[in-house]
Amino acid sequence: MAIYQEVLTSVEDGILIITINRPQALNALNKGVFDDLIQLFTKDIDPTQYKGVIITGAGEKAFAAGADIKEFLGLDRAKAKAQSQRGQDIFAAIESFTIPVIAAVNGFALGGGCELAMACHMRIAHAKSRFGQPEVNLGILPGYGGTQRLIQLIGKGKAMELLLTADMINGEQALALGLVNHVVAPDELISKSKEIIKKIAQKAPLAIAETINVVNDYFDETKNGYNSEVESFGRLAETKDFLEGASAFIEKRVAKWERK
Ligand code: COA
Repeated sequence: MAIYQEVLTSVEDGILIITINRPQALNALNKGVFDDLIQLFTKDIDPTQYKGVIITGAGEKAFAAGADIKEFLGLDRAKAKAQSQRGQDIFAAIESFTIPVIAAVNGFALGGGCELAMACHMRIAHAKSRFGQPEVNLGILPGYGGTQRLIQLIGKGKAMELLLTADMINGEQALALGLVNHVVAPDELISKSKEIIKKIAQKAPLAIAETINVVNDYFDETKNGYNSEVESFGRLAETKDFLEGASAFIEKRVAKWERK
């Protein structure tokens, strides 16, 4: 895999780990991080080569403490809209990725960092991880899909409260709200993420990809999720893997997936 400007990549057990590597700025999402994420999720990562992807932050303090505030100065309306659109596009590419993407939230996930975590398919945190959308403190609002995904994950009332008060919540509170999937010890973030990805990797990969797609369609106004489900069900029924999965069940053996 290529060398990136602001993220580190490594492969463990067939899982790609992307580490945002700006600990001196609490892994704030600057242009370089966005460039790297675009390169990775739209070009470099071949989903057939990995079981899944884990995104985390370097150091012990932060997953990502938001958009890089230093890059905010000098934004005019056109530049701000372009930046917001770019962020939305990157995070949409992560959300629609066809293998599981898990955020291992190792500290602050604020602003764009919280938005990045929300764009992942699941979030694993520790008790002292901190989530929040503090943009109104700066006179702005979340621009990378956060106003929408927070509602999707925790409902309008609680989303409104977090967005308007800029309050931070810890991992346990995020778990209670449904913002994170699991809370584990800090040194278990990666192993828990890997455990989930490995479990998913035993399933039929085309069915996993179609399931991610159909779940996302629920939130896409241009789609009807029920229709998408019918279409996906039809497509999968014609795959070799479906025949293999059903046959393996009947023959009481482990299925061998061909991604066909
Ligand atoms: N953008 C750019 N730099 C950031 C940053 C951000 N979003 N968040 C933190 N940093 C930088 C700080 O400027 C500081 O750099 P410096 O050492 O050169 O001064 C460094 O990271 C450490 O942050 P610091 O504020 O000293 O750490 P702290 O433990 O006292 O506070 C936070 C941690 C997360 C509470 C605080 O950094 C913060 O509020 N950050 C901004 C969060 C935010 O508003 N995000 C949304 C942006 S839209």
